[in-house]
Amino acid sequence: MLPKEIIKIKVPPIKIQGIKTKLVPFIAESIQWDGNGTYFEPFMGSGVVGFNLEPKKAVFSDTNPHIIRFYKDIQNGTLNAKIVRNFLENESKKLSSTPADKTSYYYEVRNRFNKSPNSLDFLFLQRSNFNGMIRFNKKGEYNVPFGRKPERFQKSLITKIVNQVNWIEQLFYNKDWEFKCQNFISAFEQMSANDFVYLDPPYIDRHDGYYESWSNESALLLADLTQNGKAGFALSMWYENSYRKNSHLNHWKNGVLLTTDHFYHIGAKQTNRNKMTEALFISQQNVNKNFTPNQSQLSFFN
Ligand SMILES: C[S@@+](CC[C@H](N)C(=O)[O-])C[C@H]1O[C@@H](n2cnc3c(N)ncnc32)[C@H](O)[C@@H]1O
Repeated sequence: MLPKEIIKIKVPPIKIQGIKTKLVPFIAESIQWDGNGTYFEPFMGSGVVGFNLEPKKAVFSDTNPHIIRFYKDIQNGTLNAKIVRNFLENESKKLSSTPADKTSYYYEVRNRFNKSPNSLDFLFLQRSNFNGMIRFNKKGEYNVPFGRKPERFQKSLITKIVNQVNWIEQLFYNKDWEFKCQNFISAFEQMSANDFVYLDPPYIDRHDGYYESWSNESALLLADLTQNGKAGFALSMWYENSYRKNSHLNHWKNGVLLTTDHFYHIGAKQTNRNKMTEALFISQQNVNKNFTPNQSQLSFFN
């Protein structure tokens, strides 16, 4: 099943901060796995990695119940491309008839979502909020502000979202996929020897606003469960930026470390170009030894 050459990366309907869209080809080509077991993704977020890898059998999970509800709803037919189109076409009119401030219709949807969460409102909020963030307060309430664009849902955007939902519907054919709202610890209890797990946990020491907080203890437990577990694995983690190296990677010893660079800009100035090196730490037996990426961008350690 892996490695796989990804010609065109597809983007799912629900995005999240830390989405690995750009890293999908690197991940897909770096891993060797026969696909005879179950693919696990216990920090699925947007699901962009697993959805593009398209394993036959998979368990996607996350502690964010709204993400899991969304995909379960598509799977059981409660939500489909047609329902999404009708909903967004209606809601877009209401949004565009209110201002960009605190009185926007966005906040009405946010309030009703926090009282009674459902997948359509979640999609609406995610696609009209500030920067596609997913963030909750301590009470578990969704608190991302409006992106301040009442005309946000143009026809072309609605069609784009509808196509993304349609892609997910098509993906489910002939697949044995399960979506579970659970902590990563429960996911590890379900893994066995032929399985493979892709891990993309939150960063330590950074309040990302994800549904649950992430601690140093969680990160150490994850390193332990993974390296002493039965399944093959790949872990995504930042390796270094212009200021420092990620010292947490010292806890990952049982495997091979691959790195790749990407650049990001702070503010509008082209001169403020910053380099970030991303790591992919893979269990020894699951490294694709035939992968010949640009060697200047990739280094092997062990
Ligand atoms: C970095 S994001 C994953 C991004 C994803 N790979 C993507 O490309 O969209 C981390 C995810 O872990 C989830 N999460 C946080 N703590 C968790 C925990 N203890 N167990 C399982 N999932 C958790 C968050 O809700 C978030 O969706």
